[in-house]
Amino acid sequence: MLKDFIQSLPKAELHLHIEGSFEPELMFEIAKRNNVSIPFNSVEEVKAAYKFNNLQEFLDIYYAGANVLIEEKDFYDLTWAYLAKVASENVKHVEIFFDPQTHTDRGVPFKKVITGIYKALERGESELGISFKLIMSFLRHLSEESAFKTLEEAMPYRDWISGVGLDSSELGNPPSKFERVFAEANKRGFKLVAHAGEEGPADYIWEALDLLKVVRIDHGNRCLDDTDLVTRLANEQMPLTICPLSNLELKVVKDLKNHPLKKLMNKGLLATIHSDDPAYFGGYMNANYLAVADALNLSEADLAQLAKNSFTASWLPDTEKHRYL
Ligand code: ADE
Ligand code: ZN
Repeated sequence: MLKDFIQSLPKAELHLHIEGSFEPELMFEIAKRNNVSIPFNSVEEVKAAYKFNNLQEFLDIYYAGANVLIEEKDFYDLTWAYLAKVASENVKHVEIFFDPQTHTDRGVPFKKVITGIYKALERGESELGISFKLIMSFLRHLSEESAFKTLEEAMPYRDWISGVGLDSSELGNPPSKFERVFAEANKRGFKLVAHAGEEGPADYIWEALDLLKVVRIDHGNRCLDDTDLVTRLANEQMPLTICPLSNLELKVVKDLKNHPLKKLMNKGLLATIHSDDPAYFGGYMNANYLAVADALNLSEADLAQLAKNSFTASWLPDTEKHRYL
């Protein structure tokens, strides 16, 4: 069965917002111990609220959920729950985003956020055999100044952070807004990625490449609007971290049968499959593989290629990558 085949494939998760893995059950537990109220009475009520017409409607609920996270242990428990889940899906390597400004803007110290996440990742590596990288993502609806401040706050933890990313409300917040802060992050040796072409136009993907100098594009669906861009992405084998269930739930695609993944693969692009915010979009890695495989009639060879692509696109050293290629 396809499901068993997907389960058997070793996979790398390269597009996952740790705040987006916050399951309602854990949200209630942490809200209770922190004495924070949430506007829902039950897990069912929370899940019923997860209906989105676009990215912004999702982000409003996602940031509200994150308000419950206050102590280092909260970030630790969140990350540990995610790792335990994906260990059962044969995920061998994760490169996860965290959004420090979501927390520092409400007075939670950067130190608590990153220490909780990092300690859980270390335990995941030693107990579950999941290797990891951490990516600090700037919120693009906030100012350049706030991103610069966040970069400075991160410096005591420089060794814990492999890369810098860009997420949140895309439309009206082009990559160009963060050109200077990405240049500075580049100077400091961070790898660079950005969400681009999820809701925003193909032009934002050009900006992410040319102005931000990213090494991966998160989403990138809209590249298909621009043939020159597709040629460039194919020639450079620039990874596109595609998130099928996210695209469906945020109405980036109407139906998974219209999902551009197969087209991207046929055009020679380095596409990979990921889960984005699995607690909100109804599935972790294997569910994303399965949903898109069913909708697009992907073969076992396609799925194996996608899983290999996830390691090719990862920041593992070549010696470790080759185990999976
Ligand atoms: N933050 C969390 N998930 C996101 C997504 N899919 N796009 C932009 N920002 C996000
Ligand atoms: Zn994302």
